[in-house]
Amino acid sequence: MSILKIAKMGHPILRKKSQEIVDPRSDSTKYLLDDMIETLEDIQGLGLAAPQVHVSKRLVIFYSPDEKSNHNDMSLSILINPIIEPLGSEIDYDWEGCLSVPGLRGLVPRYNKIRYSGFNQEGEFFDKVVDGLHARVVQHECDHLDGILYVQRMDKLENLIFESEMKFFGNT
Ligand code: NI
Repeated sequence: MSILKIAKMGHPILRKKSQEIVDPRSDSTKYLLDDMIETLEDIQGLGLAAPQVHVSKRLVIFYSPDEKSNHNDMSLSILINPIIEPLGSEIDYDWEGCLSVPGLRGLVPRYNKIRYSGFNQEGEFFDKVVDGLHARVVQHECDHLDGILYVQRMDKLENLIFESEMKFFGNT
């Protein structure tokens, strides 16, 4: 296992469309996943997509509120070859950050509710209907697989700010 270097905005790999993973259970997928999990833990992020560690493959990992817990626990999800379908037209705005855009925060519109599907690390297909923060994280991470950063989803660039100035927006 090793901690991987994160690509930052401007690196061409972040603008590329990533390739499908042929075998979610292959050794190479497992090693990549192990390294991504270790990297995300080290950097204390909410989510990570393979292109952010310079691998152009359709794989993301992210934390979301644990459905089985009534505390504020977060559980780690692994999502391979994801597909997202918006449910309804409701759009929410909330602040996002990204390990590839360090130090900044932006107010980003996202679908409130989505269905997403894909494979887990055992190669099992699954689908889920989620909303709120869970839906936002999935949309953010999966955008990376199509070469899109959250900044490109923003409709008002005056809402792109440094984390250290968040206090002026009544949000810490
Ligand atoms: Ni990101």
